[in-house]
This record gives sequence, structure tokens and C-alpha cells, in this order.
Amino acid sequence: MTDRKVIHLSETDSTNKYIRTVEEPGVCVIADRQTGGRGRRGRTFESPEGGLYMSFKCRSADVTGDRLTAKAAVAVSHAVEKLTGLCTGIKWVNDIYAEGKKLCGILAEGVWKGDSLDCIIMGIGVNLRGALPDSLKDIATTVEECGGVVPAPEDLALEILSEFDSLGEFCDEYRERQILIGKEVTVHRGDEVYTAVAETTDGECRMVLRLPDGRRITADSGEVSLRING
Ligand code: BTN
Repeated sequence: MTDRKVIHLSETDSTNKYIRTVEEPGVCVIADRQTGGRGRRGRTFESPEGGLYMSFKCRSADVTGDRLTAKAAVAVSHAVEKLTGLCTGIKWVNDIYAEGKKLCGILAEGVWKGDSLDCIIMGIGVNLRGALPDSLKDIATTVEECGGVVPAPEDLALEILSEFDSLGEFCDEYRERQILIGKEVTVHRGDEVYTAVAETTDGECRMVLRLPDGRRITADSGEVSLRING
């Protein structure tokens, strides 16, 4: 178990925003619902009652960029599988899937003091129970909908923190859990859109893509986003 302190709010705009105001080290903020939940690439993250919405600060500089998101993804997978009994997969770089739909999203945000990185905020949203908005029904799911055991949000948060704080090397497992590997994907890189095969992830948890002409490129999540074809 973890010795982290949890602040449990019934509602906030975004736990990623709230945690910025918390100076005490080791604190995790969770909320029953968010009114302004944020996703990657400036998207909204729907956060109705029935989910776990949590954020904590990572101060260690040992894992950065996609590796930190990857570490959280592996930790969330362990915790969700342990408490719910479901099987999960990871869709590079930050989504946890169950039964072919998104169960959880992760948003890592840097906090800068001048030119130096002060810390990274790790935000995690897990759909536990209840109805999802109509717009998400085809692409997202909940633990309840998948027939898993629905944990108390605070119990799941503590399990995720415990897994995250104790996780050793995780890159191989991150690769093994990928659901895109071997599949054809559409690659969005700035204004460019092209097709490739997701081949593997490397030691920095970047994606290695094979292009139709056989060339390989390695991309991090700041450069490309991937959509599965078919
Ligand atoms: C994504 O799927 O694009 C990432 C979603 C991250 C959502 C979590 S919920 C807790 C934390 N607070 C936020 O506003 N976002 C993250």
C-alpha cells in the first residue's frame, strides 16, 4: 500500500488544475465529477459521476515524455485488472482499453518555473459505472458495462498510486500490452495524413512505424497521433 495522502472532492473543474495549487508533496486529488475535464490535444474529457478522476505530481526527472505516460499506463492496467478482474490493453500512448473500447485516459502535463520543468502532473480518468454520454457510447466503455467488479474510486486511486510508486522497468510490458502492434493505422503528423503499420514501441516508449515503401520511422506522441484502420 502507498503512504500518499488523498484529497477527495465531490466536484472540481479539473483535478489536473486543482493539484497545481497543492504544495504538499505526495498528495493525490480525486473528484467524483469534473465540470471541465481535460483530455490530450486540447480535447474535453467527459467526467460525469461514476468515474475516477485523479491527479498527482511527479517530481522525479528519471522518466520523462512518453515514458512517464507509459509508466502510468502500465500501473493503471495492473491496478484495474487487480481490482476489477477485467483484462485490459494499452492503445499507444495513453489509453487503456477493455473489450475493444476506451476505459481510461491519461494526461501528463508539465509545470514550468521559468525555463525549468518543476514537475509533471499525471491525470488519470477511469470510467467505472453509469451511463456515458451518447457521443461516447460507440468508442468508450465502463467497468460496469464490461461486467467487472466496480471498485470504490478511492480504493482504485490508492492501488494505482501503489503500482506507480513501486513499478520497476516497464518498457517490455508496455510493448506487450499494446493493442495497435501489427495493425494498419492512419498517422496524423501536423497536416500530413498517411497509412503505416504499427510495428513496435522502442525503449523510450515511442512508436516504430513501417511505411508502405518499407522504411521505418520512430515517432513520439508529440509528433503523431494514430487511428486504427477498420
Ligand atoms: C485523454 O484521454 O485524452 C486523457 C484524459 C485524461 C483525463 C484525466 S481525468 C483526471 C485529470 N483531470 C483532467 O482534467 N484530465 C485528467
